[in-house]
Amino acid sequence: MTSKIDNKKILIREMQLVDLEKVVILEEEIFPDPWSLKAFQEQVEDDNWGGYVAVSNGEIIGYACYYIAAHESHLTNIAVVEEFRGKLVAKLLLDNIFKVVKEYKSEFLLLEVRPSNKSAIAFYEKYDFKLLYQRPRYYHSPVEDALVMVHYFEYDRDE
Ligand SMILES: CC(C)(COP(=O)(O)OP(=O)(O)OC[C@H]1O[C@@H](n2cnc3c(N)ncnc32)[C@H](O)[C@@H]1OP(=O)(O)O)[C@@H](O)C(=O)NCCC(=O)NCCS
Repeated sequence: MTSKIDNKKILIREMQLVDLEKVVILEEEIFPDPWSLKAFQEQVEDDNWGGYVAVSNGEIIGYACYYIAAHESHLTNIAVVEEFRGKLVAKLLLDNIFKVVKEYKSEFLLLEVRPSNKSAIAFYEKYDFKLLYQRPRYYHSPVEDALVMVHYFEYDRDE
């Protein structure tokens, strides 16, 4: 039986170059069209890009990446290893991304997801991402449309 309390033992920290070997192994296990090591390196090194890893007992068990382009931001990747799903690990990762995006005062956070990825869509809907439009044949291996989803942020005038 899984427990939500387990996530108290999970540490979220910024993704670093030293993490990427393990992140790419997980990426290749989880996605049919995985990002390359080079794509993750750019994610960590380039300005306005970044990521977080979730760590349990010293092992990376999840990760999420973002890109900030002034008023808009992108959730470029999020994944949790199968045995740790359903323990709010992705929520913890997303919370950290919401925090950094708000520091930049982005108005919205965009993402793409496969229409067949019902788990991810349910996760995004839970955290107030709404369907913006469907982008034809966006994904390869296998070819599939993308649902473009958006989460809007609101700020007080004097924030
Ligand atoms: C999508 C994903 C990242 C969710 O990770 P997770 O750690 O299991 O999600 P969480 O435990 O933080 O879920 C938070 C909430 O999202 C919703 N949710 C998450 N997974 C769900 C599922 N499979 N079915 C229905 N709702 C789900 C639930 O409301 C959940 O809260 P609850 O358990 O209290 O009801 C994970 O399934 C995953 O890694 N999938 C493979 C990679 C992937 O597809 N990434 C997205 C690419 S666009």
